[in-house]
Amino acid sequence: MSKEKGGFNTQSVHAGCEPDPLHGGVSVPIYQSSTFAFQGVDQGAARFRGEEGGYIYTRMGNPTVAALEGAIASMEGGHAGLATSSGMAAITTVLLTYLEADAHLIGTDSVYGPSRVLVEKHLRRFGVQSDFVDTTNIEHIRAAVRPETRVLYIETPENPTIRLTDIRRCAEIARQHELVLVVDNTFATPVLQRPLELGADIVVHSMTKFLNGHADVVAGIIVTSTEQQRKAVREVLNHHGGCIDPHQAWLVHRGLKTLGLRVAQAQKSALALSEILHGHPAVEWVRYPGASDHPQRELAQKQMDGPGAILCFGVHGGLEAGRLLMEQVKIPTLAVSLGGVETLIEHPASMTHASLTQEARQQAGIDDNLIRLAVGCEDTADLIEDLRGALDVLLRHETLAVGADSD
Ligand SMILES: Cc1ncc(COP(=O)(O)O)c(C=O)c1O
Repeated sequence: MSKEKGGFNTQSVHAGCEPDPLHGGVSVPIYQSSTFAFQGVDQGAARFRGEEGGYIYTRMGNPTVAALEGAIASMEGGHAGLATSSGMAAITTVLLTYLEADAHLIGTDSVYGPSRVLVEKHLRRFGVQSDFVDTTNIEHIRAAVRPETRVLYIETPENPTIRLTDIRRCAEIARQHELVLVVDNTFATPVLQRPLELGADIVVHSMTKFLNGHADVVAGIIVTSTEQQRKAVREVLNHHGGCIDPHQAWLVHRGLKTLGLRVAQAQKSALALSEILHGHPAVEWVRYPGASDHPQRELAQKQMDGPGAILCFGVHGGLEAGRLLMEQVKIPTLAVSLGGVETLIEHPASMTHASLTQEARQQAGIDDNLIRLAVGCEDTADLIEDLRGALDVLLRHETLAVGADSD
């Protein structure tokens, strides 16, 4: 059994981590160097011509960054990884690679807010056309395809509505119309979902979230499925400059080693919390792909290896009751982001998705009372006790009287 062919945890501990040939260091050295010396003019010229391997300048590649890129590419079953300074830099780089004036993009309507604003506001200034549709219904995608469509950009599970899009069926449409299918796999991570195996062309991640996992780095990555894509994306990344710093890359690589363990613990708690929410009279609705009432549970079981660690819900009494709940819980921190060891709670309509218009939010199913819970690695029993206690407070609250209309 080789380390590379082992299970997910074996791979995440060992991928890209051969002992350093100079001193045998078990951890990948941090090459905190912006530039790399050539042994002679001919070598420098050969590297620039791409005739010789080796490093030139960290914006174009760095050994510490390369170790991280290789590790994530192998977890995703991809050809190559290209790490970036943020998740948004990864998304921007891919879209700049495949779009031009008059080209058209179809996207999931409830993608991470800034991903949509990037397309509808900024790329639009350069003539890019777009339609953001409910991609949970494949017919909406088919209806939106135009001769100029180049990119199908989906996020599944969607942030924050936790709806799913069928990656295999999107891949069929992409093949049929020669579109580049890009999947934001931030929520699921390669532990639970590997879009390239389902036919996607490119995966993007905010590594800020689960891959790093410790709420201390902002970073992103693009995983391509072919050498041709790697070259095209690399060229754009080199020129627009959204590269990652080697020290950040090293931190993410360290976090990656426990990805499988962290996701397993967080998912176990998310399942338990979903049950508590479902059974509590203060709760109006819950959406979690691991729950029996999730309308796409079958699809979750087909394309994911687990329902993940993020759920959303609404409480009776609307936004005011939700606000009280978010201020009552003691363990979850009231903060945006997700995928860290600490549980976070947030209100997308006024926070992560505030940059969308009210109309766009409504279209995407982001209700004003939607609360997003991104479960971390604390003990499950503690999270249960805390959430149950906060929900009980809502029931007792005089002015909200949520229990009265909670049937
Ligand atoms: C699904 C998703 N994609 C992309 C991003 C952007 O990532 P970053 O904040 O690292 O730029 C986020 C950030 O929250 C996200 O949740």
